[in-house]
Amino acid sequence: MKATNIIFFFITFVHLSSENCNIIMCNLKGKSLKQSRLTSADIDTTVCPYLTISFAEFDNDALVVDKQVSETFPWMWVAKAKNPNFKLVLCFYNAVGVEEFYDMYRTPEKRLKFIPLLVTYLRNNKFDGVQVELAVGYGLWSPLRYNIDRWADFMEDIQKAFTEEAKSSGKPKLLLFGHIDSRKEDYDPLYHVPRIYKYSDFVIVDAWPYYPLRIGPKYNISITNTHHTRIYSEHQGDFSNIDYNVKTILRKGGIKEKTVISLYLMAEFYRRVFGLGFPRYDWVKYDNYGAVGAIMSQGGNVTRVFDNCPIFMSDRTVIYYDDEISLTEKVKYIKTKGLAGFEISDMSADDFKGVFGRGKFPLMRAVNEECRKP
Ligand SMILES: *[C@@H]1O[C@H](CO)[C@@H](O)[C@H](O)[C@H]1NC(C)=O
Ligand SMILES: *[C@@H]1O[C@H](CO)[C@@H](O)[C@H](O)[C@H]1NC(C)=O
Repeated sequence: MKATNIIFFFITFVHLSSENCNIIMCNLKGKSLKQSRLTSADIDTTVCPYLTISFAEFDNDALVVDKQVSETFPWMWVAKAKNPNFKLVLCFYNAVGVEEFYDMYRTPEKRLKFIPLLVTYLRNNKFDGVQVELAVGYGLWSPLRYNIDRWADFMEDIQKAFTEEAKSSGKPKLLLFGHIDSRKEDYDPLYHVPRIYKYSDFVIVDAWPYYPLRIGPKYNISITNTHHTRIYSEHQGDFSNIDYNVKTILRKGGIKEKTVISLYLMAEFYRRVFGLGFPRYDWVKYDNYGAVGAIMSQGGNVTRVFDNCPIFMSDRTVIYYDDEISLTEKVKYIKTKGLAGFEISDMSADDFKGVFGRGKFPLMRAVNEECRKP
């Protein structure tokens, strides 16, 4: 090992092992800019030290950014000038089965032509890094248009380019955030976990459990027997929980000091369906924490299940959500396990307007407060 490598290794090691909650990240989705009333003016850079802007994609041999998304950049630049600790990350997001995208990253010449374009785009728009993510939902991928090793090669080449660019420009290296969703066995063929961890500075891991669309005795799911952000499960054979998903990634070769847990914090609303037979509740919508506050002010009660996860109940409505108490539990989990940090996968899930009367971004503020505690 060369002396420089040893020093680099040592600094990295000390850096990673001496801090908890290195990364507190909020994801701003272009979709939410359209659907919710969230605007860049709502963003508080002190509660979101890392802001991921979603999405950019590959099209016509180039990086394409939705206008709605790129229109927020000038505001972000002002925010960066005011708060030098604020870091901007662009989310490069592509459906795994898209032919043109596949063709780019599996062909060395093509990916080596694309990566410099990515670097230039990031630098020109004052980004501090990129998150590289595959959209893996139902019907999006076919084994014919995916190759687990070429995907890892793509990550390797991006990190190599970032390292070389930092040397030649003298600027801090651009950060590479990998992304893994291995909550389903079907996704296993998509991720070479050890290699993705090796080339990424950090890896965002989707860790929240899936939620049922129908609840009630008819489906053998009692109201208090489920929650879409439970850390642990009390039931044997229930593998749908954050801890199980995290352990799965680590067992496959993940590195805990690089693991950022991503949680979907939208409140899930269910409505009672009246009719013959057993009572049942159907999923009706998701909404943010402010909307939960608005409903709670009309009565009803709150029960806590699993690790202090709240469930709101009234005659017709059941809501599974997160509050300051349940998020504090999650940050404690991250710290106890020595993980890198926390990402809110859609920041419009928080009460960004302060409807609840607890100030703006009460959930992310709770995350920050717990992270700061020794
Ligand atoms: C209902 O769920 C319980 C655990 O929650 C399980 O022990 C039982 O076997 C299930 N019953 C049916 C009919 O699936
Ligand atoms: C909470 O509200 C639900 C629905 O109205 C009711 O079934 C339940 O008994 C209530 N729980 C408490 C502890 O009041």
